[in-house]
Amino acid sequence: MPTALITGGRPGSVERRPSRFERCKASQEVATAVAFLSSDAADRITDQDITVAAGYGPAPGTRAGRSRIRTVNAMNRTAQENTMALTLDTYRLLGRSGLRVSPLALGTATFGTEWGWGAERDEARKLFDRYTELGGNVFDTASTYTDGSSERLLGEFARADRDKLVPATKYSTLRRPDDPNSGGTHRKSMLASVEASLRRLNTDYIDLLYVNVWDFRTPVEEILRGLDDLVRQGKVLYVGISSAPAWQVARMQAIADLRGWSPLVALETEYSLIERTAERDLIPMAREMGLGVVPFSPLGGGVLTGKYSREDQNRAGSVVGETAGDRKSLNVALGWVTDRNLAIADAVKEVASELGRTPAQVALAWALNAPGVTAPVVGARTIAQLEDNLGALQVDLTPSQLARLDEVSAIDLGNPHGPARQRSHPHGHHGRHEDRNPRLRP
Ligand SMILES: NC(=O)c1ccc[n+]([C@@H]2O[C@H](COP(=O)([O-])OP(=O)(O)OC[C@H]3O[C@@H](n4cnc5c(N)ncnc54)[C@H](OP(=O)(O)O)[C@@H]3O)[C@@H](O)[C@H]2O)c1
Repeated sequence: MPTALITGGRPGSVERRPSRFERCKASQEVATAVAFLSSDAADRITDQDITVAAGYGPAPGTRAGRSRIRTVNAMNRTAQENTMALTLDTYRLLGRSGLRVSPLALGTATFGTEWGWGAERDEARKLFDRYTELGGNVFDTASTYTDGSSERLLGEFARADRDKLVPATKYSTLRRPDDPNSGGTHRKSMLASVEASLRRLNTDYIDLLYVNVWDFRTPVEEILRGLDDLVRQGKVLYVGISSAPAWQVARMQAIADLRGWSPLVALETEYSLIERTAERDLIPMAREMGLGVVPFSPLGGGVLTGKYSREDQNRAGSVVGETAGDRKSLNVALGWVTDRNLAIADAVKEVASELGRTPAQVALAWALNAPGVTAPVVGARTIAQLEDNLGALQVDLTPSQLARLDEVSAIDLGNPHGPARQRSHPHGHHGRHEDRNPRLRP
């Protein structure tokens, strides 16, 4: 038997007597051992430990036997785990599921140049290769990204290692401008979109399907039952939701639970130092209901990388739908290049220079370590940007740096979140959202 160290207590505590889990594990009673895992201990065992405990693992000392894949329950991370250096193969569990995902997902809205600000095929291939080479396994795409090129390129690149990878795609954005049923969250749109995604991704199953844009019309039972049918058919493994009101998601999860339908395991939502409104209801809801939080636009479309200035605010051709085609014009049109956001970007730059890091790394590290967050979706257009962004995994922000970043970007949580219009401090320096109530654990 291997001598894997498994501690039953919190990090730093010393447990001299073998725990019930260790004793069960030593006698290879894996089912019993797993039953006695406390959720704390479960966070610190490796996937290899489970395999070996089952008695059919590779011999210690062999190449496979040295593999120490580690999976942490993202909703239950300790403060210590939050600040330790991560790697793309330090996997986190996605919400209330057993699916292991890298702590940074790779966004693929930059795969293809159809939207004017993406990467050509060869550069996209480099992004894919570098990310997977480092153990990255989760990809974010959607049925309409770059008019289908994103899914097509991802399908092509992923073919050789399909089973190892976790492509996530989405449905509900309009696929044909003259056909109202080609978009929306209803069953017809869902089924047709998934069939088209399967063809473009060149696969017979989708690991994670998100409801993308909320249509404010379709009854939630229709959505949930359609998603569950896809799971039962084996076309989809897990389901998630993006950009929907928190109260609807909570209601959907309760209905899914009561009816035995597939639960929502992920919430993809915009979340960054410049967009923290998800802290009001979406993130607390996700933690309570067992959805892993997957933040998109963690760099505010690039604003947090420090390359934007006040001169950019009046950029020509920056009206939504009529932009000059580049990302900068789009960000101006979306209202992301404001005085407030530039001030936040300045604070990020300041922290970055103290740490000898880049602003992109600091902004991503902030999102990566926010409570409840499983895996921010990294958006890179070039391989240099991806290398830069992956450096966020090693950034260790001090409590005072986190407090400064929380403060400069704080939002008013509004009614009913606090008696005096409380401002939010997700990293807990002022007591809010520091709730580590075990009930919140999936
Ligand atoms: N669920 C949804 O509704 C939804 C919505 C939006 C996005 N997403 C997903 O989230 C992913 C990321 O979103 P996003 O693109 O908005 O993310 P982002 O990280 O906020 O912005 C990415 C952009 O910032 C710039 N950038 C990235 N790294 C940089 C670096 N190190 N230095 C300088 N500039 C850098 C690049 O644009 P330039 O080089 O062109 O300036 C890049 O395209 C998307 O690919 C998509 O998969 C989902």
